[in-house]
Amino acid sequence: MTDSILPLSLQDVSYEINGVRLIKDLTCAFEAGPRTAIIGPNGAGKSLFLRLCHGLLQPSAGTVSWQNIGGRNPRDAQAMVFQRPVMLRRSVAQNVDYALKLKGIERGERLHRIDEVLGRAGLRRLKDQPARVLSFGEQQKLALARAWALRPQVLFLDEPTASLDPAATHAVEEIVQAIHDEGTRIILTTHDLGQARRLADEVIFLHRGRMLERAPAEQFFTEPQNDLAQAFVRGELLWWRLGKDNRKHSAPKQR
Ligand SMILES: Nc1ncnc2c1ncn2[C@@H]1O[C@H](COP(=O)(O)OP(=O)(O)O)[C@@H](O)[C@H]1O
Ligand SMILES: [Mg+2]
Repeated sequence: MTDSILPLSLQDVSYEINGVRLIKDLTCAFEAGPRTAIIGPNGAGKSLFLRLCHGLLQPSAGTVSWQNIGGRNPRDAQAMVFQRPVMLRRSVAQNVDYALKLKGIERGERLHRIDEVLGRAGLRRLKDQPARVLSFGEQQKLALARAWALRPQVLFLDEPTASLDPAATHAVEEIVQAIHDEGTRIILTTHDLGQARRLADEVIFLHRGRMLERAPAEQFFTEPQNDLAQAFVRGELLWWRLGKDNRKHSAPKQR
């Protein structure tokens, strides 16, 4: 028996909605250690992939499994931060406190962790502010601090800076780096190649629900093997390579 929920293993994972396969036959494993960036154009399946890993979606076929930690729930050792932060109608500190309470952590330890993560995320002076009046960038830092307070073994980040300006993006990336430095396994999605270059040790390239390449970051950015990955790294749009029918499917959906 081990205390680590890693490796995470995906075996022949597919996910379909209304008969359309959106994720196709993914098989891969994530060991402890490096930071992984899942990249690919809009609609590639990055968010679905992350949700399947985190257990928010169940695969239509195949399995997602974690290392056995003696009957304890692997969900308790992982956290996820979304593109748009979801804040409770409470103060900054209470937002962190609530997440810790849900995990059954006692008050003294909660106060300690709240002070620690708010300090490290640069939010201490805002601790009594209502979370919902914070700027978008501050809210995203708070979402990270809240996840960090849980001391997860694995942290999933779904396009964590997609709607942020460069300064806020930099601040968020620094926090992600600090969380990694403390030993949390980072798995993030991004369509921002610059972010993948800055943050990732390895890259997974997804396109239309398939994993087309997985490689160490440096190798991926200097000589991607897959031709679509090459086009993506060159900054070319990928829709022109699709057939007419596929193009219809890849149009952004209104939700
Ligand atoms: N609930 C849903 N119903 C129908 N189609 C969906 C749903 N969620 C995602 N999709 C489709 O699955 C594909 C992958 O979506 P997503 O994982 O959000 O892509 P990405 O995060 O890479 O931009 C897209 O074509 C999207 O429109
Ligand atoms: Mg997405």
